Amino acid sequence: MKQKQYHIYLPDEKIPTHWYNLAVELPWKMPLPIDPETKELYEFEKLKKIYTEEACKIELLMGEYGKEPWIKIPDPVLNVYRKYRVTPLQRAVGLEEALGFEGQIWFKREDMNPSGSHKPNTSLPQAYYGAKQKDINVLVTDTGAGQWGASVALSCNFFGIKSKIFMTRDSYKNKPYRVNLMELAGAEVYPSPGPTTKAGKELYDQNPDHPGSLGIGMGEAMELVRENPDHRLALGCMSYYAAMHQTVIGTEVKEQVKEGGLKPDIMIACVGGGSNFMGFAAPLIGDKIKKENDIRFLAVESANIPSLTKGEYKYDSQDYFGYTPMVKMLTLGHKFVPPKLHSGGLRYHGKTPILSLLVENKIVEPKAVDQNDAFEACKTFYQTDGIISAPEAGHAIAQTIKEAKEAKERGEKPTIVFCLTGNGYLDLKGYADMFDLHK
Ligand SMILES: Cc1ncc(COP(=O)(O)O)c(C=O)c1O
Repeated sequence: MKQKQYHIYLPDEKIPTHWYNLAVELPWKMPLPIDPETKELYEFEKLKKIYTEEACKIELLMGEYGKEPWIKIPDPVLNVYRKYRVTPLQRAVGLEEALGFEGQIWFKREDMNPSGSHKPNTSLPQAYYGAKQKDINVLVTDTGAGQWGASVALSCNFFGIKSKIFMTRDSYKNKPYRVNLMELAGAEVYPSPGPTTKAGKELYDQNPDHPGSLGIGMGEAMELVRENPDHRLALGCMSYYAAMHQTVIGTEVKEQVKEGGLKPDIMIACVGGGSNFMGFAAPLIGDKIKKENDIRFLAVESANIPSLTKGEYKYDSQDYFGYTPMVKMLTLGHKFVPPKLHSGGLRYHGKTPILSLLVENKIVEPKAVDQNDAFEACKTFYQTDGIISAPEAGHAIAQTIKEAKEAKERGEKPTIVFCLTGNGYLDLKGYADMFDLHK
């Protein structure tokens, strides 16, 4: 009998050299950011005071970004990607056996990246753009569980630019080692909300135990950007530029499934703001739109923050205070403060415009998973395949298990591929709380 294939690796020379720009391949126009003051399209001259100039061009689909489906990755960024990419596509043999599933389950290993998650795929180019631009000295951002913050800090260190990070207060307390990772890379880290900014101080004074949210952290970061002309905002999940940079994941997956002779039937990823989902799925969504595949794409959010499944599709602010450009998205409203969760990276009120557009047009199926089910799935995956997943990615694992069980009941044997966005070694306190383990 033929030996089962456990991993699909690609040789170094197959590393993606281009990002995939799905927005120009869609039959619908992706709604662009508008200015909350004028309600008109956000002007480049004004937007470039918020983001790096290159990020603004991507966000507004200017120049090549408005017409080219493939965008060349700058060499300095590609050279850092080479340190950790191409990441393996691995078969979840243990999970298949435990479920008695006769189809196949594969997962993309973004948990092996520097700083522990998919986030460097976009923080690296953002740090590169910032370092290259003469009038910028600092990138400022918000982070939930700290994966994004750790990744921005490390990327800024690689490219020699400073970073300041607002981390949701709840995660700042519960995930101190991620704070340490950021500090090791030279970042300044502030619990959010907190007294550093006027907006943060007001919330903090009302409730010093305020759990914070990604929207509040983003608003605090934005306040620093407005007050310091050499600071710019780096966004990890909500921006189109983050989604586009992340397509190195899906471009590799597309090549790996071809290499392994696989035909995915279902692709699954968790969603905070939507960047890993878009990066993982976009190249194959592009093919689906061209009628070259019939894959089901499942975007899995936290049932505690149900913007994909229960939100309203409208222009809304990306941050709690209404400082940032407004974008058209599925949202629970920017004043929504999500409950405390161990999956801090999913605590965001809206979902990135390109994903919201695809859900509205029924190309992507929205799903919601409860935190308990996500942790149960993480525990199962650890016991079956020996990998400790970030709780955020546990939402994708839980949906994968559900799909596999349902397919088995129907007598079907689909090939399922999910995105393992991060490792969970620094989330073990969450595991200990959930399963009442030794503390
Ligand atoms: C491990 C991990 N997975 C997923 C996410 C969700 O973010 P996004 O939807 O932008 O990929 C986060 C966000 O911080 C994360 O840390």
